[in-house]
Amino acid sequence: MFVILSKGYSELSQQSAGIVSGAIRKRPDLRLGLATGTTPLGMYRELVRMHREEDLDFSRVVTFNLDEYLGLAADHPQSAHTFMQSNFFDYVNIAPENIHIPDGTALGDLDQYCAEYEATIQRAGGIDLQILGIGRNGHIGFNEPSSSLASRTRIKTLTSQTLEDNRRLFQEGQPMPEAAITMGIGTIVDARKILLLASGTSKARALARAIEGPVTAFVTASALQLHRDVTILADEQAASELSESEYYRRDFEVDSRLRRAAK
Ligand code: F6R
Repeated sequence: MFVILSKGYSELSQQSAGIVSGAIRKRPDLRLGLATGTTPLGMYRELVRMHREEDLDFSRVVTFNLDEYLGLAADHPQSAHTFMQSNFFDYVNIAPENIHIPDGTALGDLDQYCAEYEATIQRAGGIDLQILGIGRNGHIGFNEPSSSLASRTRIKTLTSQTLEDNRRLFQEGQPMPEAAITMGIGTIVDARKILLLASGTSKARALARAIEGPVTAFVTASALQLHRDVTILADEQAASELSESEYYRRDFEVDSRLRRAAK
């Protein structure tokens, strides 16, 4: 695991966008796994800027989102679909047919629907680079504590902490979905490369448990310890409970050069 400590949120956003744009320039038809939530917002803004000012081309990029709330239609203001459109897709030249987000209103056999989402990823050739945030309870995607570390895309009931954390995004009195369709941990770790972003003190404990604690289904991000190409970008606040600091890098530029040279 490469753990890189950024000075703050804006540096973290620029560094993550730098990794994504580098991957796209190297492979224009990159299969890119995406997350919603507050953490990657700065990265999306920076990628939009790179598209406008530096000709970063998304026309052949294929995206797969991690999750969607069960029961929310694509046009619901709090759906992952709306989030992705209004924070990213509307501002870059991505082809609509290359965007994949689970359908929260899928009807009929949901197991079959989830298996089909997995099959679509497989048909595309698998995910090259997966972007992740981390929940306060250590979840990635909506793989809440006790999720099988071998899980695939499925319906997952959200914990009270996740509901509480995400309530701020829903209007007062608006019903909040209590379940989501999410890629499983097994799906996520199949990605060739993983980039996890963590910002703010509210993530410090989860990040320390994920990186320095045991691999456990109760902190599903800890499964990343078993993956061979994970980069974790954390700002100082998110890194504040890490204790093994001698193993982490502060100099992103040196790190990128070393990694380029190693490839
Ligand atoms: C969203 C997702 C979640 C979030 C996590 C952190 O697609 O997969 O795991 O990444 O809940 O959310 P924020 O960034 O809002 O703190």
